[in-house]
Amino acid sequence: MRILAIETSADETAIALLEADGATPEDARFKVLGNALLSQITHHIPYGGIYPNIAKREHGRNLVPVLMEALLKAGELNQVVVHPDDAISKEVGAILEREAELHTYLSEFFRSHGKPAIETIAVTYGPGLEPALWVGINFAKALSRVWHVPIVPVNHMEGHLMMAAAREGVFAPVAFPAIALLVSGGHTELVLIREWMKYELLGETRDDAAGECFDKCARLLGLPYPGGPEIATLAQKARASGLPRATPLPRPMHDSKDFDFSFSGLKTAVRNAVHLTTQGGEKTFSHEDRAAFAREIEDAIVEVLVKKTAAAAEEYGAHTVILGGGVSANEHLRADLTKKLEGTPVLFPPAGLSTDNAIMIALAGYFRAQKKEFAPHDSIKASGNLRLI
Ligand code: KG4
Ligand code: ZN
Repeated sequence: MRILAIETSADETAIALLEADGATPEDARFKVLGNALLSQITHHIPYGGIYPNIAKREHGRNLVPVLMEALLKAGELNQVVVHPDDAISKEVGAILEREAELHTYLSEFFRSHGKPAIETIAVTYGPGLEPALWVGINFAKALSRVWHVPIVPVNHMEGHLMMAAAREGVFAPVAFPAIALLVSGGHTELVLIREWMKYELLGETRDDAAGECFDKCARLLGLPYPGGPEIATLAQKARASGLPRATPLPRPMHDSKDFDFSFSGLKTAVRNAVHLTTQGGEKTFSHEDRAAFAREIEDAIVEVLVKKTAAAAEEYGAHTVILGGGVSANEHLRADLTKKLEGTPVLFPPAGLSTDNAIMIALAGYFRAQKKEFAPHDSIKASGNLRLI
């Protein structure tokens, strides 16, 4: 099956075209035919996080260029390179909420360029920012009408999970029961998986997500958004150069007996510690201070994540642990989790595919399509707080 996936839940506009066969990840094979992504990060930097209405506007402008790039890479379109500032991008962005107009516009376009060989469209319908999700959903509906192909709605977190188990064209073996730690900018979830595509939520964050905590703490240190990679780089430098450690920060809920998390207290502790170090803004932060803080922040977040994941793995006798979501890019988290779980295989996404992309949506969408979970257009709605079940 050839599946085109659309992802617009946060600040990446992503589209991928995959060819896949096999009914479950155990016997599936897939090939990425075309993969394209435009990040909006520069637009959100001034706000220190994602600004929903800007995300919506940018997705609107980016969808056509990203679609064209993915189709071009897949050999499904002749040389048409479209930029976000081109008339067609702006026009499509402007009429995304006007279904009939969008349909006419895209029908005209593909009448002259030919219909690509696609059998299904997968689109993220949650969780995420609803204004951003709607952009992708409306675009998916229009393409589905133009190309006469069905839509399969995809849970973004299932996409992260599938991506963590995916390897070059196949899936890594997963022995059940498995425990998944899904950590992104909006979510922190511990999930028990007894068989593919059946999930039991063991715990989640009660306030900020792990990635959100990285981002907010980074902002307090004067580092740009997204803060996770910035903190990780500085923390690594601090460790390598043997800098003295910063004032210890709390490890929230480290010893609680449940599988929930809480990260907002950590952010408050960082705010107070920064205030003390800079004497209420009188003194400037030295590079060493900043690096020492980054290391302590990373240690605090990673320790809690590792402790809870290992406890869940032990309690449920996990044979595999899966780490997915943007924060799974964190090398320190990968290394500590692998060390702590010695003997139990730990899977994480291939390089560059921890953070949002459309390959992950195509993979999850493909397996949902195998289960015939196609949905009528009227029933597909953005679901900001969608759960993994
Ligand atoms: O999954 P993702 O790309 O988007 C959402 O679904 O939210 O995750 C983005 C999050 C951001 O909070 C970002 O700071 C964090 O992932 N992140 C990292 C690293 N790379 C990205 N956090 C820690 N260390 C990293 N290397
Ligand atoms: Zn994500």
